[in-house]
Amino acid sequence: MADETRDGSVTIEALMDETRVFEPSAEFVSQANISSPSIYEDAKHDRLGWWAEQAEKMLWRKKWDQVLDWSNAPFAKWFVGAELNITESCLDRHVQANPDKVAFYFEGEPGDSRVITYKELYEEVCQFANGLADLGVQKGDRVAIYMGMIPELPIALLACARLGAPHSVVFGGFSSDSLRDRVNDAEAKVVITCDEGWRNGGRIELKNFADKAVEECPSIEKMVVVQRTGGDVQMVEGRDIYYHDLIDGKAKERPATITDSEDMLFVLYTSGTTARPKGIVHTVGGYLVGAATTHRLVFDIKPDDIYFCTADIGWVTGHSYIVYGPLANGVTSVIYEGVPNYPDKDRFWEIVEKYKVTQIYTAPTAIRTFMKWGTEYPERHDLSSLRVIGTVGEPINPEAWIWYNTFIGGGKAPIVDTWWQTETGHIMISPIPGVTRTKPGSATIPLPGMGADIVDDEGVSVPNGSGGYLVLTEPWPGMLRTIYKDPERFKDVYWSRFSKPSENKWVYFAGDGAKKDLDGYFWLLGRVDDVMNISGHRISTLEVESALVDHPAVAEAAVVGRADSTTGQAIAAFVTLKGGNQGDEKLLAELREHVAVKIGKIARPASIVFTDELPKTRSGKIMRRLLRDISEQRKLGDVTTLANSDVVNEIAKRASSSMSKQAD
Ligand code: PRX
Repeated sequence: MADETRDGSVTIEALMDETRVFEPSAEFVSQANISSPSIYEDAKHDRLGWWAEQAEKMLWRKKWDQVLDWSNAPFAKWFVGAELNITESCLDRHVQANPDKVAFYFEGEPGDSRVITYKELYEEVCQFANGLADLGVQKGDRVAIYMGMIPELPIALLACARLGAPHSVVFGGFSSDSLRDRVNDAEAKVVITCDEGWRNGGRIELKNFADKAVEECPSIEKMVVVQRTGGDVQMVEGRDIYYHDLIDGKAKERPATITDSEDMLFVLYTSGTTARPKGIVHTVGGYLVGAATTHRLVFDIKPDDIYFCTADIGWVTGHSYIVYGPLANGVTSVIYEGVPNYPDKDRFWEIVEKYKVTQIYTAPTAIRTFMKWGTEYPERHDLSSLRVIGTVGEPINPEAWIWYNTFIGGGKAPIVDTWWQTETGHIMISPIPGVTRTKPGSATIPLPGMGADIVDDEGVSVPNGSGGYLVLTEPWPGMLRTIYKDPERFKDVYWSRFSKPSENKWVYFAGDGAKKDLDGYFWLLGRVDDVMNISGHRISTLEVESALVDHPAVAEAAVVGRADSTTGQAIAAFVTLKGGNQGDEKLLAELREHVAVKIGKIARPASIVFTDELPKTRSGKIMRRLLRDISEQRKLGDVTTLANSDVVNEIAKRASSSMSKQAD
């Protein structure tokens, strides 16, 4: 196995000591939607039939001729021949059945709030779709969305979907340059943004960033600007229009554009192992069925639930579990705009109490932060409404799991640790809360209808008790269909490592290391490639390296993710300067800022070490494992293949003094 599992096996040994098992309580089981393990067997017995049954719960204009066409693997088609518009499952049918049911409780960071019923949501989506259509947006056109977490964000996604125009949401924390690159890759026609976003009491100048990006985006014809803060922005004559002006007087109805099940619903960019992000393509039918089904199963969704996912819609979690999954299930959700510590560290818990939230879905990095802040914050509030509590984005350490169980779940709400990816579209590995025994730190077993395994270097399934690479062994409805405009890269990244095309055996390589315990439970161990996971956000080492070498002072850079007790991983950079220059504090600050400008603040290195040389193999490959070891201030790894091994001790020495100074 690759060197990374060396770290992994250390982790797994610690995890294997974890023997606590939590059975679903009798109280929970008695009210659960699913309380019999037979669901796993049913799905296994007739996998495609089981998925078809789930699909029947959605609204179709024309049913499928075939559930799955895998004849052109790895390019899948689900619900072949079916026609639908995803917004009809998410809106129209609920408007008919229950128009006054609340779709979203919006909680603004400054303390404002808004209640939006299904009818109101439907009407505003239609108005905006009418507005976008007037701007020339047609079926198939790509629309970029770059906004804060305000109600107009899900409205924008849905308005695009209403028109059959694929959306490309770019997280509001990304920089102008990142937005520009994504807009250009998708060749978006329109960008939707807001004047500014509220964040941690301050303002994020989204419109200004968008203006700068669009200077170099020849495909953009129009910019729609939602007024959130009322901040001063420059509107460009003929290009820019305020959202409120655009929707003013527009009809509150808009016939849904009918799409094929396999038409593109959205593209969402994610970091891979090169500096160029990948445009992950999801299509309408399969994605809807996958997101809705998993949301219902994993969160034990009931009609009166108040569900709260704390993710940002800029990431896939928000797409699937704030917008499409919950709305398809007709749920009432809470959307929160800001950070968890504004105005105080109990903001999430205040929201849970205020709305009597029944499910909360958050990230391990947030849970570890709450642990650090102390139990006094959740203890200020009545959290007894919580029935199911979820995590996503990175491995959760048993200590954080127990804390979450005790102080948030009150020892009674089951934890659903959900493993999935931007590429999978929806949850793949997770407990079903009324059925599956949980173990702190394990995402447990694949959901019904999914096939996952752990294999060794040769692609052979490992026995229980062993580790290897996580793979997905069966196609699933929400799977990515391709990488936008790059089908070769799609095949190469995900399907070349363990598939055997000559035997028509297709195996999806997820890029994660994992281990099966003696019960066959899955324990995820983190990425095995050059992708870092910072607070649950994927960032490529190469992206950060290329941002660093873009700075005129930098000759070469190497970036690794080092373990961090709050953010999971932190970005550690090693930099050599041009002309043999020595770095100083000023340059260090400048480089961190440079990365923020090139990518976004989330990619700012936590530490930068200036070094005369980088450790490399004889073939010139940077030895990341060694740098990671140095970063984590561990004993050095095997350095015998280093061409310039004498630099290593020097780097190690500088790293330890520099990191102790820069500790965040
Ligand atoms: O490494 C895994 C980790 O996050 C990666 C996917 O990142 P992204 O596409 O940004 O999607 C995040 C939200 C779905 C995975 O390859 N990951 C996600 N969930 C878990 C996880 N690692 C361990 N346990 C999880 N529950």
